[in-house]
Amino acid sequence: MRLNGRETRTIWLDDDGRRVHVIDQTLLPHRVETRVLADCADAETAIRDMTVRGAPLIGVAGAYGLALATAADSSDAAVEVACARLLATRPTAVNLRWALERMRALLLATPPAERRAVAYAEAARIADEDVETCAAIGDHGAALIRAAAQGLDRPLNILTHCNAGWLATVDWGTALAPIYKAARAGVKLHVWVDETRPRNQGASLTACELFGEGVPHTVIADNAGGHLMQHGLVDLIIVGSDRTTRAGDVCNKIGTYLKALAAHDNGVPFYVALPASTIDWRISDGLTDIPIEERDPREVTHISGCDADGALVEVRLTPEGVTARNYAFDVTPARFVTGLITERGVCAASAEGLATLFPDFAAV
Ligand code: MRU
Repeated sequence: MRLNGRETRTIWLDDDGRRVHVIDQTLLPHRVETRVLADCADAETAIRDMTVRGAPLIGVAGAYGLALATAADSSDAAVEVACARLLATRPTAVNLRWALERMRALLLATPPAERRAVAYAEAARIADEDVETCAAIGDHGAALIRAAAQGLDRPLNILTHCNAGWLATVDWGTALAPIYKAARAGVKLHVWVDETRPRNQGASLTACELFGEGVPHTVIADNAGGHLMQHGLVDLIIVGSDRTTRAGDVCNKIGTYLKALAAHDNGVPFYVALPASTIDWRISDGLTDIPIEERDPREVTHISGCDADGALVEVRLTPEGVTARNYAFDVTPARFVTGLITERGVCAASAEGLATLFPDFAAV
């Protein structure tokens, strides 16, 4: 997608075929800078400090991290250590484990001398598949948006939370892919963008993306969504997911659950867009089985932005020394989810619904 008018992906390989380039998302929307990941430790840091973030992109960055580790040492022990270190960077988004398990199984079945080439090829395949998958999610979701917009004499109002756009994936995005596809097909729409405290992925990343694509949007405080729904100003909600259980419970950025509750109370359809790599087929109960990441309280007590001179600054919001907790995700039970938009189509958020689209996975 376009960033500063240029088509780009979020992650790509250097001409040397070894090092990995990523967009530094901690600086957006104020600066567009890239970072080079030269070894596995760089990949670990980039995932942990959210230079790269978003469930699908974390998975791809983990895969390339393992390729970088294999380039340095292709022994079984080195592969195992790198997998464990990368897996420990962020606990909630299951795509990381999915990508690492796929890479690990392939590498351990490959002679050590061939592992480096195989690792880079597989990481590239995971990245390319992510683009195709997100494009398919976009097509299925766009059909849904078109149907919802039919007969309206005003733009369709869609609300989204956090950033589940192309910056959270390799390209296209999950929740935003349907919006991009529908907008490009001429559907008149407008997006309410939750700012998404504390890291403000909505205000800084989703707004940056929609601006770049020319999609009409308005940033709102996280607490405004319920009010808008009560006044008929939201027609549809689409969010992403960091982990979805086989029963359709959805774990996503903190605050998603409250939007789902308000949607339920106001009869607003609440959709979740996700690739199959975000489904954790091993678990059914989102409330008990998903580890919720707790991050540095400083992300709550402080806020960063750009001052009048264009310098990036961080300021404290709270009294000094105050206690804060920073839960990064919450779980929306399946009963509040109208439907799941996947690369294979749209289904009910339930074990039965997922089994209709993914009989191959659901049976295991
Ligand atoms: O903490 P982040 O920025 O990595 O959060 C993940 C997300 O971007 C969102 O939860 C998103 O809605 C799901 S991932 C497409």
